[in-house]
Amino acid sequence: MRLRLAESNLWKIILSALIMPILVFAYSAGPPDAHTGGFGEPTCTECHGTRANTNPGSVVIQLPASYTSGATYSITVRITDATARRWGFQLSARTADGRQAGTLSPGSDRFTQIANAAVSGPLSNPSVQYIEHTSTGTRAGLVGPINFTFNWTAPDVSRGTVIFNAAANAANNNFAHDPGDHIYTTEARLDPAASSGPAPAVAANGTVNNASFAAGTNPLAPGTIAAIFGINLNDGSSNPSQAGFGPDGKLPNSLGGASVTFNGVPAPVFSSFAGQLNVMVPFEMAGVTQASVVVTANGQASAPQTVPIGPLSPGIFSVASDGKGQGAVQIANTTIFAAPTGSIAGVQARPARPGEFLTIYCTGLGDVSDKPATGAPAGSNPLSATVATPQVTIGGIPATVSFSGLAPGFVGLYQINAQVPAAVPAGDTVALEFTIGGIKSNPVTIAVGP
Ligand code: HEC
Repeated sequence: MRLRLAESNLWKIILSALIMPILVFAYSAGPPDAHTGGFGEPTCTECHGTRANTNPGSVVIQLPASYTSGATYSITVRITDATARRWGFQLSARTADGRQAGTLSPGSDRFTQIANAAVSGPLSNPSVQYIEHTSTGTRAGLVGPINFTFNWTAPDVSRGTVIFNAAANAANNNFAHDPGDHIYTTEARLDPAASSGPAPAVAANGTVNNASFAAGTNPLAPGTIAAIFGINLNDGSSNPSQAGFGPDGKLPNSLGGASVTFNGVPAPVFSSFAGQLNVMVPFEMAGVTQASVVVTANGQASAPQTVPIGPLSPGIFSVASDGKGQGAVQIANTTIFAAPTGSIAGVQARPARPGEFLTIYCTGLGDVSDKPATGAPAGSNPLSATVATPQVTIGGIPATVSFSGLAPGFVGLYQINAQVPAAVPAGDTVALEFTIGGIKSNPVTIAVGP
């Protein structure tokens, strides 16, 4: 057994000797990425020591008792080993599904650094951070125990338990990677602070199309921007604007301490208030007839509410955000609303002329070509066109449709480009609506000029 171990170490040493000319300088200045021993990763034993945790020493991750959203904590990795005279470590902070949790940052003592963030971990998640020793941090000759102290800014509490993995090298200071180095690994878990607030509750039939606000008994299509009404739906904060895209290029699945699942699938969150969450129905709901919606806020889950799901749930956005009156309709290829001049504060507006094309902003138009991932913005080349074709009427007269699909760069937002028929009489409140797959949108109005 001993011999076999020695042999297998030998080929590793030979192998890494081959790559030494480039890499030798790099190692004591920081180990290769993804060697914490967590989430299926190897540990430092790939090159150092024999087996991990076989010597009388330890590595301990000193964590706070719990975490709250956005707070920054000082974290210490403490390595104990009676014989070691040089020290190194690597640590990661991930959610249960292996994604980066919060943000790690080095301490001011120059003993720690963030490894090259561009290097991927084994879960093909390019955004996992690894914090580790610097060359100075190895403190050659020093007798332990020693500490590595750095900072961690907590994620939103709705990310749940955070798993910290650390691998440590209590080395013999021979400036080599040899069996005399002692490797230790550990895992530590950190839960969100228990909430003292009341549990979130989703209103019955309170999950509706965010454009039409049609009654919650109407099915919602996968990809629809929906509003979820209820109480205590977030941590009490107000996050009104569309959240930015995360490092994975998608909308976040949690905002203001709130996260939402449809049949267990996380829904991207646009904005978050205690009484209303604005989310996208995940594309993964394709083919189902109902979904169980659960909101988690402050670490507490709501009772599930059943929401009907169907292939199409057309809704036109309105300027007043209530699905009625002046529609969110612009003269095509401009930002000018097809509304009475001066009628909307802060934006340009003028009546559309017969023959002009309009851009009608809507949601719930169902399946599309080149479908982006749930939460990812729609592409522009190629465009994502709807599988079903809408029939638009303006002033009751059928209009020519030139495009129907996702609005490029946006999540869950569709647009229909349609031409104002020549026969439409002028007016400030001309009716505009459409039907897709036999389902009618809410009617809105536009202004049409001579
Ligand atoms: C792919 C091989 C490889 C892996 C994996 C690796 N190292 Fe190393 N390490 C080396 C080499 C080669 C050296 C010696 C050259 C040098 O000092 O730069 C070294 C040296 C060190 C030293 C100085 C050792 C001494 O006795 O002087 C420390 C500390 C260290 N590594 C820590 C770590 C830690 C912590 C890990 C795991 C998180 C790790 N290494 C993983 C290759 C590796």
